[in-house]
Amino acid sequence: MTASLDTSSTRAVSRRIAAVTESATLAIDARAKALRAAGEDVISFGAGEPDFPTPEPIVEAAVAACRDPRNHRYTPTAGLPELRAAIATKTARDSGLAVEAAQVLVTNGAKHAVFQAFATLLDPGDEVLVMAPYWTTYPEAIALAGGVPVAVGADESTGFRVGVDELDAACTPRTKVLLFVSPSNPTGAVYPAQEIEAIGGWAAERGLWVVTDEIYEHLVYGGRTHHSLPVLAPDVAERCVVINGVAKTYAMTGWRVGWLIGPDDIVKAATNLQSHATSNVSNIAQAAAVAAVRGDLSAAAEMREAFDRRRRTMVRMLRETTGVECPEPLGAFYCFPSVKGALGRTIRGRTPQSSAELAELVLDEAEVAVVPGEAFGAPGYFRLSYALGDDDLVEGVTRLQKLLAEAT
Ligand SMILES: Cc1ncc(COP(=O)(O)O)c(C=O)c1O
Repeated sequence: MTASLDTSSTRAVSRRIAAVTESATLAIDARAKALRAAGEDVISFGAGEPDFPTPEPIVEAAVAACRDPRNHRYTPTAGLPELRAAIATKTARDSGLAVEAAQVLVTNGAKHAVFQAFATLLDPGDEVLVMAPYWTTYPEAIALAGGVPVAVGADESTGFRVGVDELDAACTPRTKVLLFVSPSNPTGAVYPAQEIEAIGGWAAERGLWVVTDEIYEHLVYGGRTHHSLPVLAPDVAERCVVINGVAKTYAMTGWRVGWLIGPDDIVKAATNLQSHATSNVSNIAQAAAVAAVRGDLSAAAEMREAFDRRRRTMVRMLRETTGVECPEPLGAFYCFPSVKGALGRTIRGRTPQSSAELAELVLDEAEVAVVPGEAFGAPGYFRLSYALGDDDLVEGVTRLQKLLAEAT
């Protein structure tokens, strides 16, 4: 007798999971990689990851950890004690925020910390204010936790930064959390100190929780400084969950180590959840993260310098591109230009009406992968990552320039 998988409707995917959309950024990157594997000369601006290898001392720490049998076993769910302590020390060093090691939960990347935070904070129907354009994962994580994401939009006229008035207008009795992100993916917006103070102070007055994602803290340019919200708005610090990780600062996207920092009861509850979901994060990756956060920031500074050079090149070239307007991004590693001037025009017999259609055309005709703004709640824009090699960057934008110059 042979068994077969039952595909009848009674076995269909649950409504909760069926509602989850594929990550558009990972989908574009996968498509670009598949085309490249098939021999096509595709240049991808899709991925949100540094092109550098992880710095050698961090890799060495992981190699040593592999040879230590203690790391061949389960370890505490919340993370290796030395990593939690090192994260607390690093947080005081980089943000000026004093936290105990017990307030740190080590997660499988910052993305997992986002899920943990919302799963722990939200009851069904709780609303979360999400500044748009937003990173694609946030609304999904909120909805999976039973919450309702409420987008509060900003555009290039305010540097893609949302103000207290817009937040206040979107706040209802059901609002429980404000999600604050600076520097922002996808826009590269960096909030100045006085705006963070105002937003944090407003959240405190309203009795909201704040989840603040600081994953791009070390990637700021043009003389800007990153500020941590609970430091500038101490009145809300007691109701604040800070999310961070090693991925972007130390070129460690593949190691999957992130964390959340919060009040004891939140961290305890999130740890309980994690104990049933994933147990501990890989000890080898945690040992690498210990070396990363205990080390200095010299490798991060070198990478930032390269990103800054690429950022300036990309902004200059995009500003010379037909139908494209590119505001200056001040953080992270993305440009978020408007492509509205290229819509409704004909290129090689096709007339794209949306940034999603234009992105398709650009991939088909120029073999350049970009993420359309639709993925971030902002149709009419492209997100281009400049975390790729200088030559590829110039070649890719040159192809885009040539294609869009054909628009009639
Ligand atoms: C704003 C933001 N937060 C979190 C993450 C997730 O980082 P990790 O690789 O640690 O899961 C990303 C990754 O793209 C991001 O852009």
